[in-house]
Amino acid sequence: MAMTERSNTNEEIEAAAERRALIESVVRPSFERFCAGGMDAFDDFYFGLGNRIPAVGSMFASVDMEQQNQLIRDGIRDLIDFAYGSSKAEAELQRLAKSHSRSGLGIAPEYYPHWINALMEAVRKHDTQANDDTESAWRKVLADGIDLMIAGY
Ligand code: HEM
Repeated sequence: MAMTERSNTNEEIEAAAERRALIESVVRPSFERFCAGGMDAFDDFYFGLGNRIPAVGSMFASVDMEQQNQLIRDGIRDLIDFAYGSSKAEAELQRLAKSHSRSGLGIAPEYYPHWINALMEAVRKHDTQANDDTESAWRKVLADGIDLMIAGY
């Protein structure tokens, strides 16, 4: 029993180390190249989101998109930092989960795959070094934070 517990712990430690290595070597550099695309990169993300979810146009109708782009950049960074193990980022995602929940913005769970797909499309456009491996690293890294958001619905 003790052996099993111990080997689970080791597996968890290894998985966390592997995830951090993936973040350092692949996801953060890709995120930086994406952000270097400035407003265009984020505009493309929202354009892709709007194509996937027609209601998005009216959701953001009265929003200052320049400010929203800053906020979303911080939100994406929180997702990455959470995967890296930051408890500050976890607290921030809990706050975001609440703001997006049925008692807040009412963002239903089925919207999230569209959100991630729109982000991946924009990343692949603006990070010219991104390939299938880059995308799968992103998806793997963001998954837990997105699950946290959905669980808070
Ligand atoms: C993990 C995924 C997501 C993250 C990290 C995220 C992040 C954020 C952030 C940081 C804000 C700024 C407001 C705040 O801090 O509460 C925001 C607002 C908003 N998000 Fe999200 N979001 C996510 C998913 C979605 C999805 C799937 C939708 C809908 C398709 C959505 C729609 C909105 C809307 C409508 C606003 C409010 C704009 C306003 O009225 O000011 N978000 N989001």
